[in-house]
Amino acid sequence: MALPRLAAVIGAPVRHSLSPAMHNAVFAEGGLDWSFTRFEVVRGGAEAAIDAMAVLGIGGYAVTMPHKQQAFECVDEVDPAARALGAVNTVVLRDDGSTYGASTDGNGFVESLLAEGVVVADRRVAVIGAGGAARSIVDALGRAGAADIVIVNRTRASAESAAELAEAARAGTVDDVADADVLVNATSVGMGTDDLPIEAHLLRPDLAVADIVYHPLETALLRAARAVGATTVDGLGMLAHQAVLQQVIWTGQRPDPATLRRAAEHQLA
Ligand code: ATR
Repeated sequence: MALPRLAAVIGAPVRHSLSPAMHNAVFAEGGLDWSFTRFEVVRGGAEAAIDAMAVLGIGGYAVTMPHKQQAFECVDEVDPAARALGAVNTVVLRDDGSTYGASTDGNGFVESLLAEGVVVADRRVAVIGAGGAARSIVDALGRAGAADIVIVNRTRASAESAAELAEAARAGTVDDVADADVLVNATSVGMGTDDLPIEAHLLRPDLAVADIVYHPLETALLRAARAVGATTVDGLGMLAHQAVLQQVIWTGQRPDPATLRRAAEHQLA
């Protein structure tokens, strides 16, 4: 009989990570002989953690701050999103002993929109923010065929840098939101506060509004969007769907995103 497999999130800090709850829910529901734990790995320790996978029988890692770039540097092969971003959030130890790294955040985000009926192909998307999360989203929007990706950020130089990730992307201003079909808050604004990343009067009923913030689940932005009749997608959508893609990489099986979402909601409650 094959040994049970172990997967883990590596990061610092990892105490509040929702990954163990989400992935263990999938393993339990699917009857998979896997379990998921968390390792607090000191800054600079990602390479040692990845080297240890084979010896310790660890099949996969979810990689979070501050290890995403170092993990990218030390895996044997990466997916196109990871290559574009220079960062991985997922590592798998393959049967031949080699390691493969992927970045599932951006594709997970696009899938979370599709799950709510929000299409990005040939649409105009305004992304507020230009940090790590925004960069993964811009990259994935480009791959998904968005017609125009305008990046609006407090620090314009970061928006210009993020715009290099997709041909359809450019740095813009809040005035560009008027022409957008989809608006994404990819900043941390609204996390634990009632702050809005853009002024509420810019929201319209024909705009789809997505927020990557999930604490609170209904951010001030989503509340204001709903009030004007806009379609909304909350931050647990991206979290659950990027974790679905991690499961596919580790186990080859695609779980129901609802299982991951429920587990995350339970953990947050
Ligand atoms: P993450 O990995 O979650 O993307 P990050 O890389 O630190 O985190 O990026 C945070 C993003 O939120 C950035 O776009 C940041 O804007 P700057 O590039 O100008 O710093 C944005 N952000 C954070 N706090 C903000 C605030 N109070 N107002 C506007 N933008 C803010």
